[in-house]
Amino acid sequence: MTYSKIVGTGSYLPEKVLTNFDLEKMVETTNEWIVERTGIRNRHIAAEHEDAVTMAEEAGRAALKAAGLTPADIGMIIVASTTPSMVFPSTACLLQERFGIAGCPAFDLNASACAGFMYGFSIADQFIRTGAIKTALVIGSEVMSRVVDWKDRSTCVLFGDGAGAVVLGASKEPGVVSTHLHADGTHKDVLYLPLGNKKSPNIESVKMLGNQLFKLAVNSLGDLCDETLAANNLQKSDIDWLIPHQANMRIIQAMAKKLDLPLERVVITLDEQGNTSSASIPLALDKAVRDGQIKRGQMLIMEGFGGGLAWGSALVKY
Ligand code: COA
Repeated sequence: MTYSKIVGTGSYLPEKVLTNFDLEKMVETTNEWIVERTGIRNRHIAAEHEDAVTMAEEAGRAALKAAGLTPADIGMIIVASTTPSMVFPSTACLLQERFGIAGCPAFDLNASACAGFMYGFSIADQFIRTGAIKTALVIGSEVMSRVVDWKDRSTCVLFGDGAGAVVLGASKEPGVVSTHLHADGTHKDVLYLPLGNKKSPNIESVKMLGNQLFKLAVNSLGDLCDETLAANNLQKSDIDWLIPHQANMRIIQAMAKKLDLPLERVVITLDEQGNTSSASIPLALDKAVRDGQIKRGQMLIMEGFGGGLAWGSALVKY
């Protein structure tokens, strides 16, 4: 039996930091409101010369280095991004060209928005389990600052830019124990981002019914925790770490409570990074790995939720 295993993680955050106090000067908001309602204090903003590809390259190279591998070892590249610079070539193909590894499959996932990384992670896991490939590079890379309306206080305070990467390698033991993916298109109007075209040339900005989305996120992610444990006959007490999508501190707290986990066992980057959409889970994972918090052999639940709606989780023995 072949499984996949996390063999390296990496991340990249742009240098520029936008604080809640900066936002106070841009829209009618306060640091107190943002911290109390969301938990966010700072977010990183990409420089002019940066985009989803440049950030993915930084994160990807860091993950390969951590794994002790080179680009030539990669058997598949998956980039989850809702903010690519081009519809095609995909960010993954542009990255493959930078890595100089023409030939291996490379593609983007954008349909699942903030859940994109969980979709990419699950797909890579399936390819490795079947023996089709031995190593996959899965990246979430987002320039959310380019798709938010900086005059809309209800959304612009929430998002940030960055990239996170994971190298999955073949293993005789799990590794990735199980992945669980879901979607429900009936909630398409709760969170969406229209694309520009000839009729309407400018890409629009993220539209969100925050309050409805909040309730849907808590309910769907709660059910997903139950499903992930039940599928593996595990108890809440078997879980060492929760690595959640970083959208709102109150959603994260609800998930920690659902799993009976103290917040010390939940990886939180939201305060310093905001919601980086599909990059948030690998960014959080990499931080906790590099800080020495997550240790080999520990059991992790990763879970993401976003536009579509789409949501997904993974149970991982690190
Ligand atoms: N500063 C100050 N006031 C603000 C504000 C801001 N940045 N943004 C909104 N408000 C106001 C609203 O206008 C509203 O005012 P009103 O009562 O006079 O109409 C009030 O604050 C409450 O707005 P509401 O949207 O009900 O707040 P909320 O408690 O639901 O928090 C979110 C808003 C977006 C933080 C929250 O709904 C959320 O995190 N939703 C889920 C996001 C999510 O899950 N994303 C996952 C996929 S990416």
